[in-house]
Amino acid sequence: MARSIRRPLALVFLTGALLVLGSGSALAQADEGDALFQEKCSGCHTIGGGALVGPDLDGAIDRRGGADATQAFIVDPAGSAMPNLGITDAQAAALVAFLAASATPAETTPAETTPAETAPAEPTPTAGSGDADRGKNLFEGRSDLDGGGPSCLSCHSVAGIGALGGGALGPDLTGAYAKYNGETGLVAALTTVAFPTMQPVYTGAPITEQEARDLAAFLAQAPQATRPGGSAWKLFVLSIGGVAAFSGFALLVWRSRLAGVRRQLLRRPNPRQK
Ligand code: HEC
Ligand code: HEC
Repeated sequence: MARSIRRPLALVFLTGALLVLGSGSALAQADEGDALFQEKCSGCHTIGGGALVGPDLDGAIDRRGGADATQAFIVDPAGSAMPNLGITDAQAAALVAFLAASATPAETTPAETTPAETAPAEPTPTAGSGDADRGKNLFEGRSDLDGGGPSCLSCHSVAGIGALGGGALGPDLTGAYAKYNGETGLVAALTTVAFPTMQPVYTGAPITEQEARDLAAFLAQAPQATRPGGSAWKLFVLSIGGVAAFSGFALLVWRSRLAGVRRQLLRRPNPRQK
């Protein structure tokens, strides 16, 4: 109840504040924020389109306790799950203006920009549309990414990839599918290159949506990488098999040797025997 009243109130207040600043410059600021949002944030956030990697930012200004606090958070999200993206104060102000303008319009509050223009397309849950084998090949660099970017393996490891593992610059991606909200989040994060360290590498060599789906399908399987066919499982089977084969062989050899020894023992009385 209180919330549903607070949000429109905050919107009215913000809209008022923006109007005082001059609607022209406020609009320009929101526009700049829009462009920045698409470039830097849309990989992890929507406004009204549901959670991706990060929460839906509709109403985020309220939740953060106002525009200033939200701006400060965007500049320095230290201690949260959001990476520091190197956003300046001015950029963060533009982003907050854009967030305020794109929040769900209350009936009485006209949105400054049309929602159709600003709200990112509703992410369509398309589970299972990727091909895990193709994703594995892309991950390992056995097939090239369309854009010509480097293989993920050069910086990342993941369960189920050969004993030598992968690069150590990036985190292990075994749990990434769950962490990034499944295919929807991963595809958004990869196609917009949401991770700062990956930006210089992939911005000019973008990962296509289909590639991202395939990679997501591959990463979806990573936590179960010990399934038959996974290298760890194979190694395990091989070693168990090896031990079994060796024991069998040793038993056979031993048996006949023992038999021989026993025969000799029978022939020669053992002084230690009672
Ligand atoms: C790599 C993914 C990622 C990117 C890129 C990203 N965020 Fe976030 N963001 C998150 C996550 C995860 C959280 C949740 C943080 C937490 O609660 O610990 C978050 C939280 C937030 C919050 C607080 C939301 C709330 O409801 O309290 C705001 C505001 C926000 N992000 C704004 C932005 C803006 C603006 C950008 C672009 C400059 C951006 N984020 C880029 C992942 C991301
Ligand atoms: C040049 C090295 C590099 C390459 C190549 C690279 N990454 Fe990354 N990646 C990183 C780093 C470093 C991070 C950690 C976040 C950051 O610093 O940007 C990361 C983060 C991630 C994350 C988030 C992991 C987490 O636990 O939060 C995912 C998912 C990811 N990368 C997927 C991929 C995929 C898929 C590819 C191949 C298309 C790839 N990366 C290629 C360096 C790389």
